Amino acid sequence: MNIQTQKDLLRLVLGKNLQITTDAIRLISEQSDPKKALENSIQKLEPQEFLLTTTHFTKTQSISEKKIGSLFKTEVSIIQNFTKTPYADNLQTISDFFRARYNHFKKVLSPRTNNTMSLAHAEKAKGEKCSLIGIVSDKRVTKNSVILELEDPTGVLKTITTSPEANTQAESIVLDEVVALEGSMGDDIFFTNNIIQPDLPTGKHMKKLSDSSYAAFLSDIHIGSKKFLRKEFKNLLDWFNSDVESNMQREITDNINYIFIAGDLVDGIGVYPNQKDGLYETDITKQYTEAAKLLSKIPENIEIIICPGNHDYTHLAQPQTPLTKDIAPELNELNNVTMVSNPSLVNIHTSDGGGLNTLLYHGTSIDTIVASDKTFKDGYKHPEIVMLALLKKRHLSPIYSSDLVTSGQDSMVIPSDIDIFHTGHVHSNGAMNYRGVTMLNSGTWQGKTDFQELCGHEPTPGNLPVINMKSREMQLINFYKNEPTRI
Ligand SMILES: [Fe+2]
Ligand SMILES: [Fe+2]
Repeated sequence: MNIQTQKDLLRLVLGKNLQITTDAIRLISEQSDPKKALENSIQKLEPQEFLLTTTHFTKTQSISEKKIGSLFKTEVSIIQNFTKTPYADNLQTISDFFRARYNHFKKVLSPRTNNTMSLAHAEKAKGEKCSLIGIVSDKRVTKNSVILELEDPTGVLKTITTSPEANTQAESIVLDEVVALEGSMGDDIFFTNNIIQPDLPTGKHMKKLSDSSYAAFLSDIHIGSKKFLRKEFKNLLDWFNSDVESNMQREITDNINYIFIAGDLVDGIGVYPNQKDGLYETDITKQYTEAAKLLSKIPENIEIIICPGNHDYTHLAQPQTPLTKDIAPELNELNNVTMVSNPSLVNIHTSDGGGLNTLLYHGTSIDTIVASDKTFKDGYKHPEIVMLALLKKRHLSPIYSSDLVTSGQDSMVIPSDIDIFHTGHVHSNGAMNYRGVTMLNSGTWQGKTDFQELCGHEPTPGNLPVINMKSREMQLINFYKNEPTRI
């Protein structure tokens, strides 16, 4: 709150023989151009009126007026989108998949290592200090060290950590990721004193736009489930449309241009045994019809970008292709909806200095990472721990499973030029900034399920993360207990 601005505004009001309420002066002083906002409000006074209130301000600053007057129109540019239905895996596609992964990360890691040798070459270089680059094919943790087995196109080599630093680095290494090891060659084992992961480039600043536009993030709405929080979700939809009372929230609702939905829009059918018992709607097309009905309440000037999750109606293997017209016709017909794959890379607000790149990923691999090592045991409560690990590995799903499409290329590599990394799936909010990237998990709009109860998971339903793309600050707005909170 700027006291000097308020004094200046008060002077202007009194100079015109008018009066103003405390709320109105505070509200107007918080605008980007308070004098203009005051002039607009004064113009709304009826001839007999002399008292300016927040009502006069509201009249001048309706959402539609603000959007039309905005310098930057909403813009969605899809950078990476997987639209081809995968074909069946075979030994050749799996081999091509790992070769593509290895070659990609070799290029990333080579400039950062010295005297890099192929595994076959290193095996013969006993006593020599060198670096290796390979795929981790086995990991064993002993009392004082971590044994990693590396694989490259020339062979397989056993390595062992020899320093406390390398032990710590090795804790978060998972199977099938590509790493560089620095150390020296022993008899038939490599002694590792440093582990290098692909990671994001250093020195990247957090990109800030000049327009005070906001992006909001949703996931795991689970329409069709008896636990879908319909009341809270409807409150959210009303909030997008209303002139909310709180100044802080009004600034957001007036300037939201984009909503990302990171999968599990509906609960689906047959996702797990006896799921039917937990559904109020067992027809998946009707689940999507309801989703379209609800999302149609979001103002048309807000772009909605949707990727599928494991509960949505598309193949399970990742990348998952976008939701089609066949299964979700009404959703696809909404003018402001863009369907993308899981994962996908989407640029928003492009005209504003190139906009921001959002990596949208449902987050299915979080399950495999959490299960891989005790390092990630808190990953369901704090998904940002896993997201950070994925960023460092520069891979969305490093551990190989049948959930990955191996059509000759590795589509799950994380590009370096991202600004926002958005996931869902674990139904818990989490956020962290790392090397210019805002990572966030957008929680859920489904209440605690019996399965979550059984696993001891504590979901955080009904929270909406929003990012101000000018300041890059993130806020969490709580619709479950109706108390706005900050992360
Ligand atoms: Fe979910
Ligand atoms: Fe999910």
